[in-house]
Amino acid sequence: MTPVHTLTEQWQGEAPTPLNPDTAFNGFICAHVLHALERLGFFRRLQDDGSVDVAAFCRENDLDPAVVRSLVSGAESFGYLHVRGDRAEATRSGEDVRQAIGFFTWGVGGYHDIFANAASIARGDRRFGVDLHRDEGMVALGSAQADSALMRHLLDQEIARLDFTTLVDLGAGVSERVSRLVKARPGSRGIGIDISKSATELGAETVERYGLRGTVEPVCADVLDILFNDHRVEGADQADVVMSFMFLHDLLVDPQRRDQVIPRLRAAFPKANTFLLGDTTVRPRNGDSTLPIFSSGFELAHALMGVPIYSREQYEELFDRGGMRLRNAVPFGAPHTYLFVLEAA
Ligand SMILES: C[S@@+](CC[C@H](N)C(=O)[O-])C[C@H]1O[C@@H](n2cnc3c(N)ncnc32)[C@H](O)[C@@H]1O
Repeated sequence: MTPVHTLTEQWQGEAPTPLNPDTAFNGFICAHVLHALERLGFFRRLQDDGSVDVAAFCRENDLDPAVVRSLVSGAESFGYLHVRGDRAEATRSGEDVRQAIGFFTWGVGGYHDIFANAASIARGDRRFGVDLHRDEGMVALGSAQADSALMRHLLDQEIARLDFTTLVDLGAGVSERVSRLVKARPGSRGIGIDISKSATELGAETVERYGLRGTVEPVCADVLDILFNDHRVEGADQADVVMSFMFLHDLLVDPQRRDQVIPRLRAAFPKANTFLLGDTTVRPRNGDSTLPIFSSGFELAHALMGVPIYSREQYEELFDRGGMRLRNAVPFGAPHTYLFVLEAA
């Protein structure tokens, strides 16, 4: 696992700019090849078995061998696989890219329609959320893959320092994190709040899988209603620790209410000793000649969706104005992503 202090150095990235046309075009194709191999379970098989016999893999999974071989050959050209006969193994770079596969699931799987329709969005011919949608399932899967590869151990280190009996996760998705953390802390309980009905239903399955029925409660609710419309989720006001991941910017979309969000969080969770708010920030523009993975996609995707995103400094000012004291800003795995550890001032 990468030590925290080397993470921020890595955030400068290694993709040299300007990207020459060869790199740009091949990067586009390569991202699709990687996403396809991930969807077919090829990376999982590589991880489990160390190598993949392509013919056997196609037979077992009822796949067209010509198509799979062209994907494998693409991945070999991009330097991610060694192929001998019909057997493929990951190269060193192939191992690295497997660790980062969640970003490809997120970008190619989740946002392909949005990126492909950027010109239509600019012309006003199509609008995000009206006649143009991201693939929510792929966004969620990509986030989960990035979490387990890059972030989970960092959250565990932070949570180990905290006392809690009741843990609340806002924008909890399928309640995976809250279930995992409650499972690891006997005697605690959790609530995962999400606006999505389907995510909340899947959350019930997560809770079953962890054997936590009655201990972790996935609740379908709009967090903005909790903050601004006195909507009450039973037990949530007892939270000792409140967390949210990749969600804070969603609460800040409305400029009229933006400055009120932090004070309202404090008021809605009066007993919380700690707020753990993880989110990706705008990449600082330092005239660097390299780019990291993810940041350019995160920034463009949110611009196309009309959702503002913030720099680290803007978040810190918002916390300060809202009466939360920043205990720590922990570099949180993905580039320019922080886990803000806060307490009521
Ligand atoms: C980017 S996802 C992050 C999910 C999860 N926290 C993770 O890190 O994988 C944002 C989540 O916030 C939920 N969400 C968006 N707006 C919301 C709101 N106003 N109230 C509650 N949940 C909301 C979405 O349904 C989605 O599950």
